[in-house]
Amino acid sequence: MRLEFCGVGKQFGEHQALLDITLAVPEFQSLAIIGPSGGGKTTLLRIIAGLEIPEKGHLSINGQRLEVHEEALLAHRRTIGTVFQAYNLFPHLTALENVVLPLVKVHGLPEREARDTAGALFERFQLAGHAQRRPAELSGGQQQRVAIVRAIAIKPRFLLFDEPTSALDPEMTAEVLDFIAELRGEGRDLIIVTHNMGFAREVSDQCLFIASGEVQEAGDSGDLFRNPRSPLLVNFLAKVLRY
Ligand SMILES: Nc1ncnc2c1ncn2[C@@H]1O[C@H](COP(=O)(O)OP(=O)(O)OP(=O)(O)O)[C@@H](O)[C@H]1O
Ligand SMILES: [Mg+2]
Repeated sequence: MRLEFCGVGKQFGEHQALLDITLAVPEFQSLAIIGPSGGGKTTLLRIIAGLEIPEKGHLSINGQRLEVHEEALLAHRRTIGTVFQAYNLFPHLTALENVVLPLVKVHGLPEREARDTAGALFERFQLAGHAQRRPAELSGGQQQRVAIVRAIAIKPRFLLFDEPTSALDPEMTAEVLDFIAELRGEGRDLIIVTHNMGFAREVSDQCLFIASGEVQEAGDSGDLFRNPRSPLLVNFLAKVLRY
C-alpha cells in the first residue's frame, strides 16, 4: 500500500502533537512507526484510522485523499482493522461473541454468517478452545489474539497496531508477534507502532522514526536500522537496544 502526508498538523490544546508532516512513504506491505514516548506515534496512527482529524494538511491512502467529513470518516473506519495496547474486549461477552457482535451490529452481517466467519477464524488461528471463554478467563496474549481476530474478521483493507504487546510478558509478546508476522506472511498490509525494535526490523519493509511531532527519519527498514543517519535516531536506538 501507499501513504502520503501533506502538511499534516495536529494540536491538542496548547500542545502541538504533530508539526507539519509531509512525506510520501514508498509502496510497502508492512510499515513500522518507532520513536520515543510522546513523540506523536499514536496521534499519527489515529489520523490514518480516521479517529482523529488533523487541523491542517491531509493524507492520501493508495492515492486516494481521505475526506474529513463525518460520513466519509465513518465509512473509512469500517474498512480498517485496529488493534490497540489494551485489548478492549467486552468483558461480559465470550471471546467468540466479541468477534461476532461487531460483524452483526457494525457491518450488518446476518448472525449466522457472522458466527460462521468468527468460528472459522478461531479454528484457523488455534483459538477454538477459547471461543466460549470470557476475557477474564484468558491470558493477556490470548485476549490480544482474539482482538486481532476481531480486527481481521471485518476483512479490513489494512491493519493498524498500536503497541500491541506492551501490556504483555515476554512469552506472550512472542506469541502475539508471531501471530502478526503470520498475518504479514499472508500478504496483509500492516502499520505497526512498536517499541520492539527486533520485531520492527524483522517484519517491516518501511520504517518511520517520529520524535517531537516530526518524522525525523524514514526509509527502508533494513537501511534505517543498519545505518541510522540522524543523531536523534542513533541515540534512540542506542537507548532502546542497551538492555
Ligand atoms: N487527546 C489528547 N489530548 C491532549 N494531548 C494529547 C492527546 N493525545 C495525545 N496528546 C499529546 O500529544 C503528544 C503525542 O502523543 P502520542 O500519544 O501521539 O505519543 P506517542 O508517540 O504515541 O507516545 P507513547 O509511546 O507514550 O504512546 C503527547 O505529548 C501527548 O501528551
Ligand atoms: Mg502511543
